[in-house]
Amino acid sequence: MKRVLFVCLGNICRSPVAEGIFMHKVRERGLESRLTGDSAGTAGYHIGEPPHTTSSSVAREYGVALNHRARQFQQADFERFDHILCMDRSNYETVRRLAGTTHLQSKVGMIGQFLSGPVPAPVEGAPEIPDPYYGPVAGFHDVHQLLDTATSNLITHLTSAS
Ligand code: 4NP
Repeated sequence: MKRVLFVCLGNICRSPVAEGIFMHKVRERGLESRLTGDSAGTAGYHIGEPPHTTSSSVAREYGVALNHRARQFQQADFERFDHILCMDRSNYETVRRLAGTTHLQSKVGMIGQFLSGPVPAPVEGAPEIPDPYYGPVAGFHDVHQLLDTATSNLITHLTSAS
């Protein structure tokens, strides 16, 4: 079983969408015994809250139900997950700083590394998933579409690697 944790800042706009789309595709493809996903935020502002209402309504338009309650990233997540994929460079730097060893650091990447295909692009220069929180609804659609592409490529990557 490969376990993936998606990380953003508040765990209400981007990472729960990444988790929701990823798990939707996992179920659609019958991969539940091989892949699982969760999400967390580097900040604790929204602990216990459901996803942002616009994230949820946009996801629903694409047939994806979001079932998550916000939680903060914790040190134990380095042991619980094989891959920790961050939405932007700030999240990435925060989580990398928390990883004490090079082994744990090697689990941390950016979901944007999977935007160009199933072979991850270098983390340096990987595109960010922009924070839609303060912007118009169009930003939430952009986030959904970017994460749809990236999670498809991620699943191909995780199921084709030995
Ligand atoms: P997220 O978006 O990191 O995609 O969940 C944000 C949600 C809340 C805040 C910032 C970003 N906030 O500052 O409360």
